[in-house]
Amino acid sequence: MGEMEDLCVTECTRCPALVDSRSRIVNGTGPKGADLLFVGEGPGAQEDDQGEPFVGRSGSVLDDGLRAVGLEREAVRITNCVRCRPPANRDPTDDELANCRGYLEAEIDQLDPEVIVTLGKVPTEHLLERSVAVTKEAGTLEDVRIGGEPRRLLVCVHPAATLYDRSQEETFRTTLERAAELADIDGTEGGQTRLDGY
Ligand code: URA
Repeated sequence: MGEMEDLCVTECTRCPALVDSRSRIVNGTGPKGADLLFVGEGPGAQEDDQGEPFVGRSGSVLDDGLRAVGLEREAVRITNCVRCRPPANRDPTDDELANCRGYLEAEIDQLDPEVIVTLGKVPTEHLLERSVAVTKEAGTLEDVRIGGEPRRLLVCVHPAATLYDRSQEETFRTTLERAAELADIDGTEGGQTRLDGY
């Protein structure tokens, strides 16, 4: 494994193709005490450029969706299955997912979130370790062991899916609503996940 400090990978050369295609390592963003952890697939062009997950078009959809259910981006943690941009935005390979898995597990362990929300097929299948029809299973909460620890995982469609298929907007919104409720119910006193009352 490469270097990881304070939830951030500072150096890693495990995936030759990604070392070539990336301009930087894109680490997770958001508070270390966040109740909700959103996990995407991997950085795209804008994320690679800015060094932050979900800052492009998908990021706008995610931010709008969060706001619509009373969550703010700054209150949740957002990360990806792989931290380096795959060439031509292809999906990360199984080897690349495996190479980056330790970093994701370390981030999950250190964060200890109430709920992990997987955005789309790649992160959902990666963390549930089975094939998943995401549009069918979106909104369902599953118990899963990640790095040996019991976790709760909420399946969500990828924000970009709502751009290609309008019918997924409602699925996306109701899943985020559920995430907000779960963070509220189980969150610690004084948690600031929701904007209500502020
Ligand atoms: N899509 C993802 O899965 N992750 C990002 O960071 C951006 C877009």
